[in-house]
Amino acid sequence: MGSAALDGGQQPAEPCILVIFGASGDLTKRLLMPALYNLACDGLLPQQFAILGIAMDELTTESFRERMTVGTKQFSTRKEFDAKMWDWLCSRLHYVPGKFDDPAAFARMSELVTQLDQQYQARGNVLFYMATPPSVFGLISDNLERAGFKTSSEGWKRIIVEKPFGTDLPSAIALNREILKYWREDQIFRIDHYLGKETVQNIIAFRFSNGMFEPLWNRNFIDHIQFSVSESVGVEGRGGYYDRSGVLRDMMQNHMFQMLAYLCMEPPASFAPEAVRNEKSKVLDAVRIMDGAAVRTHTVRGQYGPGRDPDGNPVPGYRQEPSVPPGSATETFAAMKLYIDNWRWHGVPIYLRSGKRLWRRGTDIVVQLKAAPEVVFRGTSIESLDANRLIFHIQPDQGIELRFQAKRPGPEMALQKVNMRFDYSQAFSASRATGYEVLIYNCMNGDATLFSRTDLVETAWRIAQPLLDTWKTDAPDFPNYAAGTWGPKAAFELIERDGRKWVEIPTRETLAKVPLFEGADSVLLGSLIMALKPVVFQPGDVIIRKGEPGRELYLISRGEVEVIGDSGEVIAKLGEGSVFGEISLLTSEPRTATIRAASYCDCFVLDKSDFVRVLRDRPHFLEAITEVAQARYNVSVPGEKLVEQM
Ligand code: NDP
Ligand code: BG6
Repeated sequence: MGSAALDGGQQPAEPCILVIFGASGDLTKRLLMPALYNLACDGLLPQQFAILGIAMDELTTESFRERMTVGTKQFSTRKEFDAKMWDWLCSRLHYVPGKFDDPAAFARMSELVTQLDQQYQARGNVLFYMATPPSVFGLISDNLERAGFKTSSEGWKRIIVEKPFGTDLPSAIALNREILKYWREDQIFRIDHYLGKETVQNIIAFRFSNGMFEPLWNRNFIDHIQFSVSESVGVEGRGGYYDRSGVLRDMMQNHMFQMLAYLCMEPPASFAPEAVRNEKSKVLDAVRIMDGAAVRTHTVRGQYGPGRDPDGNPVPGYRQEPSVPPGSATETFAAMKLYIDNWRWHGVPIYLRSGKRLWRRGTDIVVQLKAAPEVVFRGTSIESLDANRLIFHIQPDQGIELRFQAKRPGPEMALQKVNMRFDYSQAFSASRATGYEVLIYNCMNGDATLFSRTDLVETAWRIAQPLLDTWKTDAPDFPNYAAGTWGPKAAFELIERDGRKWVEIPTRETLAKVPLFEGADSVLLGSLIMALKPVVFQPGDVIIRKGEPGRELYLISRGEVEVIGDSGEVIAKLGEGSVFGEISLLTSEPRTATIRAASYCDCFVLDKSDFVRVLRDRPHFLEAITEVAQARYNVSVPGEKLVEQM
């Protein structure tokens, strides 16, 4: 990545004047200015540097500075606000009002750039940041050309363009053609802010700096890969934009396909920008393009209805969001199964899912290896072996986790799932960042590694296009998931049909709320987290039946279940955070009641064998749990008896 990683001991970027088109907009205030401030605090901006904002708003340099000061204080990612450093940056902010179709505005801007260039000795280098809708990229480029920026021979000229880069394959090709009329490929820096995230960059650092994993990174050892990007927020006032987009365009075609490329590409010959981008392009090129039939079997789309946010507050459905038409067919959730048709990945399914208004915010990549054969464990109580999983936690927790099995202490051969985990926050003390820092810094240095190239953008659209086409013709059954849930049940069926499961990662806080686990220490909760499996039920599904043997506990993450009496009447209802079926973990008695899903239900299931394995090493917790059982259910189970049952 050349100078890509900001890993300390780095030099300030090359001198330049940064011209921001759309400087009065949300992006500038919320992300760009805080990122520039972070770069200043880290000593990565040169002395020969100034910023010129341009937008329609009739601001002055003074009022622009005031606005940016308020915004940066509000959106700064640093704990302390360094007033001296901000003053340094703020004194370099300038503003010129103007419309993008007004050549006179460009003439004024050009004069100011020349003046600032002389004042700050920026060597004629100018970076144009298009913090505007893509519809005006061509207009701006045309006016920049007329204003003489293309012919000026002094210094470099570069542009940063923001997403969305096209809305489908034809529009992306047209946009590329338009921009390439004015700029050379090496001048164009297309932003994908996911590539600015440390943990995303760490995917390639991890893969190619650790000899241990690369030999396993192929169809011989990997069973499948899962990419999950869950957002708990809705459309956040961007209903107008989102309704023309949907999750496929907003998250998958760009951010998720980029992560997929990093995870699955061949090792590049070096971290030179073209070496990395060539490998990304090759792997995306090898993704099998679906036909209509494949879209119908390998993809699922969803749209949220009313529900609750993670704090339990009611939230509207997508169709009730401002600026969203009441009959909108835009998807706010999608899941898909892709195949990469090359030597390395032939036959390995790659599952992707993403959605808004899901139960939690979290981006994780799970690489599941093939399970070891059980044959060695013949004659022991071990019936099956869980596959090893390597999990990249991208956000909000940042780290890498390896899940495997270890022998439980004791005379018997018994296994328990354990993990090794590296946490960014424990290993490094870097300040939180917006993700834009490394992108702006690299662009100022002309390093295009983390930016998308014409062919990459078009290849990604080529993969998405059949989904757009098929979804346009097939009427969706929306809304099909409630806000705050795990998404539509069909997404679970998509992966379960293949005998696999999504990995849902509950937080320790979720588990700590379960009465049975009150007082559990964090090691115990960590073990339980690895043992929990997600299941989704439709309204009316019978989850447990009275009289049948039971060996599992259910924890309701979202939804409601009914407890059914002997004559079929509903005798109680259980809601989110409730647990049922737990007595079967403590005794061998048959189920004492029938439980039915009253709504869509997302539940975590804990098997008795996993529960007891976890408990065996925690005798003090065993005591506590038997006390809870006595108090809550009047079930008396001596701890030793519980262990004997296993
Ligand atoms: P806003 O609508 O908040 O800002 C757009 C800016 O462009 C405003 O400054 C507006 O000026 C200016 N503008 C638009 N048309 C003209 C014109 N014809 N002449 C002069 N000025 C014009 O958008 P955002 O800042 O949110 O987004 C900008 C880009 O960044 C978009 O492409 C978006 O998709 C992308 N993006 C935004 C993110 C965000 O978090 N906001 C995140 C990732 C990408 P004025 O206000 O004076 O009218
Ligand atoms: C943006 C999308 O690109 O990424 C948003 O337009 C989405 O809809 C956002 O919320 C997610 O980014 P992050 O960094 O919060 O995962």
